[in-house]
Amino acid sequence: MSTADQPSSSRSSSRLLQVLDGERRTPPPIWLMRQAGRYLPEYRAVRARAGDFLALVGDPALATEVTMQPVRRFDLDAAILFSDILVVPWAMGRDLRFETGEGPVLEPLEDREALTGLADAATMTERLEPILETVRRVRAALGRDRSLIGFCGGPWTVATYMVGGRGGEGARERTRRIALEEPGFFTDLLEALVQASVEWLVAQIAAGADAVQIFESWAMDLPEPWFRRWVILPTALIVAGVKRRFPRVPIIGFPRGAGCMLRDYVADTGVDAVSLDTGMPIRPVVRQLPTGFAIQGNLDPRIVRLGGEVMETEVRRILEDAAGVPHVFNLGHGLFPDTPPAHVARLVELVRAAG
Ligand code: CP3
Repeated sequence: MSTADQPSSSRSSSRLLQVLDGERRTPPPIWLMRQAGRYLPEYRAVRARAGDFLALVGDPALATEVTMQPVRRFDLDAAILFSDILVVPWAMGRDLRFETGEGPVLEPLEDREALTGLADAATMTERLEPILETVRRVRAALGRDRSLIGFCGGPWTVATYMVGGRGGEGARERTRRIALEEPGFFTDLLEALVQASVEWLVAQIAAGADAVQIFESWAMDLPEPWFRRWVILPTALIVAGVKRRFPRVPIIGFPRGAGCMLRDYVADTGVDAVSLDTGMPIRPVVRQLPTGFAIQGNLDPRIVRLGGEVMETEVRRILEDAAGVPHVFNLGHGLFPDTPPAHVARLVELVRAAG
């Protein structure tokens, strides 16, 4: 189907919002997870000026600049706010550092008592005000034909970092143990995170975000009943909370590694679209989703790093597999820092040549 066949009465002029609303577009809109980041020399220059990652996130002028860099360079259909899922625990009062070569390190949350020290949602939003200023500036810089995506982490994933202190296997193990052994503590923690996430997404939308994504990067860590309890239920509460305030703003879920649970995640959380990770085969997955449900994904970021013929073939395959459904072209996970920018430029060119 060519773009000429599309209904002209679309709610939004943005191609991303049209697809999230259930329309098919050819070529599909494209944006990429971690599109702003270290693989771009212009990002590394700004990052060096800011010094520290959190200082960059907290500086509206610099954060606006790095949010816009990939949109300008590659003419992408959407910007994703330059921030991090861990600004929420940080603003709740937890100590957070980003160590070179190691990633984020949080002060581990030990027990139920520590929960009483967490800042309430209003205080949290106040601390995150510089990021909301970035949202306003990016919204103004983008124009109406491009969308701004706001985001938060899924409560299970954010709790993994809060309890485990970092993202490695040991931290994930510790979190799974505590979730099983101290479900009361864990329920309270996730409840606090649900509230904070609703507040934070609503604030981003009020400041100008056109759509939001919930990154549940460690969704694969749980057996079915616990997946329902610690991933699906909290996500459903976040979706309901955001929809109460902004019923028409699309919410994209990214339950990485959800596997066979994807169908229930979609049915029971109320998300408007789902981002597929690299391991999800598009055709069989689509057959399990409601007719016309929007998907996003799911090129392996390793293949973008590799480039060449393999990338050309894979892009064609994904475009063909997703041809019958509303599809946002994206990756199955974030770009690697050693990805040549020229490969990203070629990727966008290949996707735009579709149809
Ligand atoms: O371009 C974008 O995607 C927007 C900004 C964004 C960042 N992090 C910037 C960032 C987004 C949406 C995130 C989400 C995020 N952060 C997730 C969920 C998605 C995923 O990747 O699974 C998670 C788990 C985090 C936590 C996090 N932040 C980790 C594990 C790391 C270290 C890994 C790394 O790439 O260094 C970060 C740091 C981080 N967040 C960087 C960026 C650009 C690198 C910071 C630097 O410049 O050194």
